Amino acid sequence: MTEKQQAQSVAAARGEHQRAQLARELLKLVVVGHVDHGKSTLIGRLLYDTDSLPTGKFEELQAICERRGMPLEWSFVLDAFQAERDQAVTIDTTQIWFKTDRRDYVIIDAPGHKEFLKNMVTGAASADAALLVVDADEGVREQTRRHGYLLHILGLRQVAVVVNKMDLVGFDEARFNAVAREVTQYLSDIGVEPTFIVPISAREGDNIARRSERSPWYEGATLLDALDQFRVVTVPIAQPLRFPVQDVYKFDQRRLIVGRVESGILRVGDRLLFSPSNKSSKVRSIEAWSVDPQPVEARAGESVTVTLEDQIFVERGEIASHTDEPPALTTVFRGRIFWFGHTPLVAGQSMKMKLATREARVTVQAIESVISTDDLGGKPADAVERNEVAEVVLRSREVLAVDEFRTISRTGRFVLIDEYDAVAGGVLSMEGYPDQRQSLTIKSTNIHAVEHRVPAEARAHRNGHAGGILWFTGLSGAGKSTLAMEVEQRLFAKGYQVYVLDGDNVRRGLNSNLGFSPDDRAENIRRVGEAAALFADAGFIVITAFISPYRTDRDRARNAAPERFHEIYVEADLAVCEQRDPKGLYKKARSGEIQDFTGISAPYEPPVSAELVVDTSKSPVEECTRDILDYVERRFSMQLGKVAEPV
Ligand code: ADX
Repeated sequence: MTEKQQAQSVAAARGEHQRAQLARELLKLVVVGHVDHGKSTLIGRLLYDTDSLPTGKFEELQAICERRGMPLEWSFVLDAFQAERDQAVTIDTTQIWFKTDRRDYVIIDAPGHKEFLKNMVTGAASADAALLVVDADEGVREQTRRHGYLLHILGLRQVAVVVNKMDLVGFDEARFNAVAREVTQYLSDIGVEPTFIVPISAREGDNIARRSERSPWYEGATLLDALDQFRVVTVPIAQPLRFPVQDVYKFDQRRLIVGRVESGILRVGDRLLFSPSNKSSKVRSIEAWSVDPQPVEARAGESVTVTLEDQIFVERGEIASHTDEPPALTTVFRGRIFWFGHTPLVAGQSMKMKLATREARVTVQAIESVISTDDLGGKPADAVERNEVAEVVLRSREVLAVDEFRTISRTGRFVLIDEYDAVAGGVLSMEGYPDQRQSLTIKSTNIHAVEHRVPAEARAHRNGHAGGILWFTGLSGAGKSTLAMEVEQRLFAKGYQVYVLDGDNVRRGLNSNLGFSPDDRAENIRRVGEAAALFADAGFIVITAFISPYRTDRDRARNAAPERFHEIYVEADLAVCEQRDPKGLYKKARSGEIQDFTGISAPYEPPVSAELVVDTSKSPVEECTRDILDYVERRFSMQLGKVAEPV
């Protein structure tokens, strides 16, 4: 087989599988709940009531229970499956099937199965709907909360709650209502809306397949009716196109790009943009093995091979989209992760990340909070322990193409891998961080640089010093402007050509069209970085006083004039800045009058290797000024009037 044929047969085999799955509708169900609230019993009962037990299983179960002189114990069904699995017999507890007249169901993971949560969070297993079991007597417990929270992280929208063991509370309507209220309250707090809440007794079969006479006050659906009303989650066709590249095969002069359409629709003739490489071409064909005529479109969920009109070089891991709705490009993002590593996660830790078909190394820049599933409050923490949920900031060296999980779940979810083990699954958010696409996209073409006839040395000679950038960064109220103006005045007095570019000033003119959204801040800093580089080239010492909250932006500013760039971190604790509050802005930010305020509701990433740090919460202005002046005199050592003649 040629590589092309291989690629096509792979794609064809996948198509075959997909078609087979469509033959009879299959809904993937996950069953969660607190230990002992009755998950196993419920599953056993569901299998029995739907006639889905293997032949003879029920009789076997009856015999065992009789022998032991105990009432029928449904959870033994699962135990029996487990035992067979342990003996390496064919039944897999992770695949328990049952059927109704409407369709087939598969419970994708059995309670108590060790890999359960891991599979769910890593996306190894995915469910269409969830069944949350709550004990009528005990109500919401720790795992009810934890599992409920996971449903939220996983974006599961179809949730049925069963209030189990109603027989133990005498089918008391008031008790049911109280538990129902408690569960609904908790779930709605985390954005999960239970579609059904059904009072049941798994052990005795009430309201599972048949309406129970013992709960005449309940008029809703039985559990099976409720399940039958769920929809098999349809593939996200209406969402923007995402086509992660899985493989690229070279075949005669052409490149065949193989992948699975994760969302949207890909059509012949569409212009595709590949991210992060930013290359683009039109789809020439969608190749299919022995299909006539050749397809003209591929929809979410289909694996296909495409060829492009131009022979651009794209690689595995890139994500193709349409040009108008591309993924974000970034080197930093937030992750809400579920950590199941054996050792705690700490800041600075580096791991491999898998996002769609891309693999990249990421470092934990910060652990923002560990989320308690009790009250959903976030508390600051230095480490994330096994089985905890945390908000972290991750940084990659390479630019990644990502999506908000909220918008496109398939390319907004990732797995972290340490050595060879999956240690966390997470969902991605760009909240507070800019899409770097704008800064990475070069639109000017046919540009030819013109050379100056005045060499840098000549300018330095006339000024008595070389040009350079003193890049002040720090929180609002840290003292950047105060120090900048002070240093400017002193340097000027010493004969330096010096000028301050200050945030508030530049935003009145050059950058008056920019606000404080992450993207606008990135653009603000990009322009100032370029302007500062021009000033430095003109021979000035330019002092910039901008919060410049993102590391990536400061690094880019540095790259605009690497030899001349000096990063000066004007440090001050947030509490001190807030107390100073020279412009009354912190107060407004706290009251919600100003959005996205740095340090309060927008991130600040402190420098990791600033050339100089001055701490204004510890030292007075005079001392900080001295430190900066000393630094300038040391670094710009061509003393005034003593610069060598230009050659
Ligand atoms: S930056 O983040 O884009 O670098 P810049 O330094 O230009 O910010 O502007 C910061 C100044 O704008 C602050 O000193 C403050 O006076 C004012 N400001 C107004 N709104 C905000 C906000 N949401 N966050 C931070 N600063 C703000």
